[in-house]
Amino acid sequence: MIHLKTKREIELMREAGQILAACHKEIRKLIQPGITSLEIDSFAEDFIKKNGATPEQKGYKGYKYATCASINDEICHGFPRKTPLKSGDIVTIDMVVNLGGALADSAWSYGVGEISPKAQKLLDVTKTAMYKGIEQAVIGNRLGDIGHAIQSYTEGEGFSVVRDFIGHGIGPTMHEEPQVLHYGLPNKGLRLKEGMVFTIEPMVNVGRYQTTMDKNGWTARTIDGSLSAQYEHTLAITQDGPYILTDQDA
Ligand code: MF3
Ligand code: CO
Repeated sequence: MIHLKTKREIELMREAGQILAACHKEIRKLIQPGITSLEIDSFAEDFIKKNGATPEQKGYKGYKYATCASINDEICHGFPRKTPLKSGDIVTIDMVVNLGGALADSAWSYGVGEISPKAQKLLDVTKTAMYKGIEQAVIGNRLGDIGHAIQSYTEGEGFSVVRDFIGHGIGPTMHEEPQVLHYGLPNKGLRLKEGMVFTIEPMVNVGRYQTTMDKNGWTARTIDGSLSAQYEHTLAITQDGPYILTDQDA
């Protein structure tokens, strides 16, 4: 079942989303060679709590951290760890903020120090792919329009879109219907309605799209060891078009 949200519910989720966006903006300043993803995780947890919210991922299905920190060929659900980040790495920080029951979910990829032109292109293409998906999130369009916009642009740039992890409806729980694929065919799938709130969160690989799961049962990485990036926003479908609840420029 899809939980359509009222304007009031959307505004509460936006408040959660603005805490999350502010946290990402601080993380951007912290990221440099030498910092560990565990330090970033503690910073994020403190930041969220200081803002009167809680990190929803901590304790979710036994997950132990406030953030996921996926480095280089890790696609998603990397564990924060004590290994220092080094110049040339790329790292995706993903988190979900719960403010009084209102949730928001956003992931962002960051380059550490000097990164290669290829890694920079991956970051740029992945972010643009997410926004091309968001552009399609208007009343009357279909989910396939979102997936198609993301896939056709990404493949046109020579990269691939991960199939095994997808976007999702959000609120009252973290993962709700609908499933939001980052690939697909135009004019196919569910029609978008006012009040839907979901994430668009493409994971893009330099090489093949296939994934492999680490022994820890959480962390997915690229099957060919190529780099992977991800950008994710939570957004609402409104009469005025897509309303990005985790917008960092608001
Ligand atoms: N934030 C992730 C998503 O986009 C979920 C991470 S799974 C968790 O769906 F266990 F870490 F919470
Ligand atoms: Co998500």
